[in-house]
Amino acid sequence: MFSEPLTIADLKKRAKWRVPKMFYDYADSGAWTESTYRANEADFAKIHLRQRVLVDMSNRSLASTMIGENVSMPVALAPTGLCGMQHADGEILAAQAAEEAGVPFTLSTMSVCSIEDVAEHTTKPFWFQLYVMKDRGFVESLIGRAKAAGCSALVLTLDLQILGQRHKDLVNGLSTPPKFTPKHVWQVGTRPFWALDMLQTKRRSFRNIVGHAPASSDLSSLAVWTAEQFDTRLSWTDVEWIRERWGGKLILKGVLDTEDAAMAAKTGADAIIVSNHGGRQLDGALSSISMLPKIVDEVGGEIEIHMDGGIRSGQDILKARALGARGTYIGRPYLYGLGAMGKKGVTRALEILRKELDVTMALCGKRDIEEIDRSIIAKVDF
Ligand code: FNR
Repeated sequence: MFSEPLTIADLKKRAKWRVPKMFYDYADSGAWTESTYRANEADFAKIHLRQRVLVDMSNRSLASTMIGENVSMPVALAPTGLCGMQHADGEILAAQAAEEAGVPFTLSTMSVCSIEDVAEHTTKPFWFQLYVMKDRGFVESLIGRAKAAGCSALVLTLDLQILGQRHKDLVNGLSTPPKFTPKHVWQVGTRPFWALDMLQTKRRSFRNIVGHAPASSDLSSLAVWTAEQFDTRLSWTDVEWIRERWGGKLILKGVLDTEDAAMAAKTGADAIIVSNHGGRQLDGALSSISMLPKIVDEVGGEIEIHMDGGIRSGQDILKARALGARGTYIGRPYLYGLGAMGKKGVTRALEILRKELDVTMALCGKRDIEEIDRSIIAKVDF
């Protein structure tokens, strides 16, 4: 029915066909009018590259490092909550695909599979993303569990002290508490391959959170407890508190403003991720890629800079690298792969990106990703 996926857009089409609407929409949605979500993707097309010819393009290398860790190309899997609803055991499958591809996987606090589930099914360290909750005992226990599981970096998300409103989720009943209706039964019933996988898999239900939430065996109370736990008073002092408790590599995720970047650079963190949460938080914010060069100019000499938001091709990764991002992250591209074809789909998404990155780099006349800088850019229209 579907031919071999050649682009991330192909994987997206397949995911839509296989995943129940409420979960496909959950991945595909942005906040309010989705203008920032759209801008994240659209602004990459405003960057034009210099075409170079008759330079040696043999023996190319995409290998690089992110926070000192070797990566086979400068891209990591971003943390995505409910990843395991795109495909049964989604977090485990995505982590395994990332490990095989030689790129980092970041596990979200809001995962279906737990830190321990992923550690048990992988052989190399992965990264853990932390949301700071009001219940600091819970935060400390998550940090302890991430350490015990051998996670090699903590990604601290700063841009979700309060949840941005995503209209599609509300329409689909993915509210707090979630509202389950016959519509959902229909949506699942019309996606039999997804449902079959879910039924055949040992469910690993939200074990990062279960046990901490009162009445945590019931999904509704779990969702309500979690939503109430986001800390609206989070401050830079808390970042210090977390850094001390963690004691390892720390990445601050969700910086989009130069003043915040200056503050972040002073925390002693190892990297910041220029990000607007994939357009899921402040609708109307500027795209990540358009803010990247400003933030690089502000603090690029002080701290390693990564970015995410809107990457849909390997060419986008090259553009981000050229504008100063040592590392990039993908969210939806691997979720589409996962929803479409499970682990094979994540592997395919990474292969597509790698191929596009390699060919684009060669056509820009470069052989090594480490040589990439602003000199490969012809013009930027934002
Ligand atoms: C996210 N993102 C996210 N970020 C985070 O720090 N913790 C989380 O639990 C989640 N959850 C989440 C769920 C889904 C479905 C999406 C799409 C995104 C944001 C994510 O880490 C990343 O910033 C964006 O996905 C990057 O944008 P693209 O690549 O999806 O365009």
